[in-house]
Amino acid sequence: MKNRNINRRDFAKTISTVGIGMTLQTSSFANDLNKKGNKVRMGVIGIGNRGTHLMKTLMGIENVEIVSLCDIDKSRLDNAINICAESGRKKPEGYFKDDHSYRRLLDRDDIDAVLIATYWDSHASIAKYAMEQGKYPGVEVPAALTLQECWDLVNTSESTGIPCMMLENWSFRKDNLAVLNMIRDGLLGEMVHCHSAHSHDCVDHWFFDAKDGHQRWAAKYLINYNRDQYPTHGLGPVISWMDINCGDSFKSIYSSATASRGINEYLKRKFGEDHPNANLEYKQGDIVTSTLKTQNGKTIIVNYDMQLPRPYDNRWMVQGTLGIYNEQRSAVYLTEKSPKYHEWEPFQPYEKEYLHKWWKNKSGTGGHGGVDSLELEHFVKAVRDKTNTPIDVYDSVTMSAVVPLSGMSIENEQPVEFPDFTRGKWKGRKPYFGA
Ligand SMILES: NC(=O)c1ccc[n+]([C@@H]2O[C@H](COP(=O)([O-])OP(=O)(O)OC[C@H]3O[C@@H](n4cnc5c(N)ncnc54)[C@H](O)[C@@H]3O)[C@@H](O)[C@H]2O)c1
Repeated sequence: MKNRNINRRDFAKTISTVGIGMTLQTSSFANDLNKKGNKVRMGVIGIGNRGTHLMKTLMGIENVEIVSLCDIDKSRLDNAINICAESGRKKPEGYFKDDHSYRRLLDRDDIDAVLIATYWDSHASIAKYAMEQGKYPGVEVPAALTLQECWDLVNTSESTGIPCMMLENWSFRKDNLAVLNMIRDGLLGEMVHCHSAHSHDCVDHWFFDAKDGHQRWAAKYLINYNRDQYPTHGLGPVISWMDINCGDSFKSIYSSATASRGINEYLKRKFGEDHPNANLEYKQGDIVTSTLKTQNGKTIIVNYDMQLPRPYDNRWMVQGTLGIYNEQRSAVYLTEKSPKYHEWEPFQPYEKEYLHKWWKNKSGTGGHGGVDSLELEHFVKAVRDKTNTPIDVYDSVTMSAVVPLSGMSIENEQPVEFPDFTRGKWKGRKPYFGA
């Protein structure tokens, strides 16, 4: 631990000179890793459904050692340890005693980075503690639930010099990265407007148990809050398409919610009129619509839509002065290129032509069509090279802040000012994601 602290100070000095968001020169922290055969030593905290999947994805990445795992549920911990051991790897050490056992994992001096896939309300505090111990946190979505937690992550990353990445996997999708290339090549002109959504019926498995309708850990958020509970999957690609925090910045957010009908109706339909959860009052409206305005005059609409019966959708649409991309139609219209005036043309040929470098020679197999392994490969590479993470702390908290801000806006029926987590640095920062 002591050695790591010395290295962390050196690293913090380096990062404060060049600024988060830029590639760092080799530091003593990086040399330290190289001496150890360049292996990246990882821990995973919270190994339920997502954490186990992330751990298995890490097992497919070269030169990664899974040193330690933590979960408050011993059976889940044992299951994950067995998966590692059965693959022929060294058995990771497990921590499980209580909500703070993760600290013992993070106090170790043989871990470089951790993935955090616990419940939402512990993401920020665990990520903060990780940075304080000199470990890169890769934290599941959303990275924070309150504005204070957002600022804690920014302040801790800046003061320790340790980058912090929210694991927003949809930013790494092949189609979204091709659109990013097209935008950066100027095909859509100047960006003006975007739409995105997280339309995913999760009432029947994630918020409530499918077998008996009992409340899972996330159900309490539907009872106690009315806000966009899950904005980051929609916003991930949009942040980079629209140069948010790198030339532009969110200025305000105005959110409204429909009445809450879907949760009660689902529970009554599935478990009967008398089921106790079917008769609870849920604050959470079925559809939340937020309009974000930027300093440079762009608008972005983002929808929360997770409790009505429907197939999955993200409904991305991005519109500029020279054209438009529509994900649902899988089509584009580009005024200087499209063969027919004001008629859509297929996006597929553009996805091939503008294939992002990260997708060259990438198979597209594994979790979420290869997206999860791509995301973790780049996170691990950042840890190994001691560079900033592919999604930085500013973008991580900007996406997450929509959770509390949308709640405030709905409650007060007014637009809310969006905090500038970069403290003005957005004016000079160059787009970095996927660059
Ligand atoms: N990016 C994606 O595509 C994606 C997909 C699914 C879930 N997620 C995110 O992953 C996270 C976990 O979701 P899930 O579906 O795996 O839930 P889950 O309930 O299956 O797993 C959560 C695990 O965290 C453990 N845990 C809770 N608090 C802990 C603590 N203080 N210390 C150690 N362990 C703790 C629980 O015991 C449980 O095993 C959520 O934040 C969710 O938003 C992301």
